Amino acid sequence: MEAAQPDTVIAPSLLAADFARLAEAGARVADDVDWLHVDVMDNHFVPNLTIGPPVVKSLKAATDVPLDCHLMIEDPERWAVGYAELGAYNVTFHAEASADPVTLAKRLRAAGAKAGLAIDRDTPVEEYLDLLPEFDTLLIMTIKAGFGGQSFIPEMLEKVRTARNHARGGHLELRIEVDGGIADDTIAAAAEAGADSFVAGTAVFGADDPAEACRRLRALAEAAR
Ligand code: DX5
Ligand code: ZN
Repeated sequence: MEAAQPDTVIAPSLLAADFARLAEAGARVADDVDWLHVDVMDNHFVPNLTIGPPVVKSLKAATDVPLDCHLMIEDPERWAVGYAELGAYNVTFHAEASADPVTLAKRLRAAGAKAGLAIDRDTPVEEYLDLLPEFDTLLIMTIKAGFGGQSFIPEMLEKVRTARNHARGGHLELRIEVDGGIADDTIAAAAEAGADSFVAGTAVFGADDPAEACRRLRALAEAAR
């Protein structure tokens, strides 16, 4: 049986970890996190290039922490299900990259993963609200997708509020995840707006003690929710 998911999800982004030591980075925070966030970038949907299926496969073998794969790639119809088949817990693809998000969500669920829809900085959330029952996760970018270490954009929280209000009307189990610039000084505002899942790269792996940084982020989020 699938383990119950906690109310607050802390998902450190391995993008900010040492890429030669990804498994060690995951192990350092494993006791204090809910998911490991894996940023897959293809140098087309975003200019950056990171990791793909072979690395996800190795990470899956190296950790028991559920993998939260964030696909910043073109043509997710071609690639996303492969991440589900590798055992990713949650597979999130970008609305801007998908011709038929609902069909892809169904395929991801059929392959055993949670299905996530990501909305980049310049994309309004409104046109996707009616699709949300088909999804387990809505990821709202709080930066422009592509690189870690950018500043949180507070205006993005309006999308979180809109999505949370909509979800209250009938999709209570929808996870609303924020990604980009989440740190000690921004996580409370995101939690107050209605986010329940928090990606943090720099704030975790840039800290002297990444596990302690995760515990602090969780405490701040829980106090604000
Ligand atoms: C960027 C990625 C983020 C990134 C966040 O496109 O989706 O997950 O790693 O990094 P920080 O927390 O440094 O903004
Ligand atoms: Zn991400």
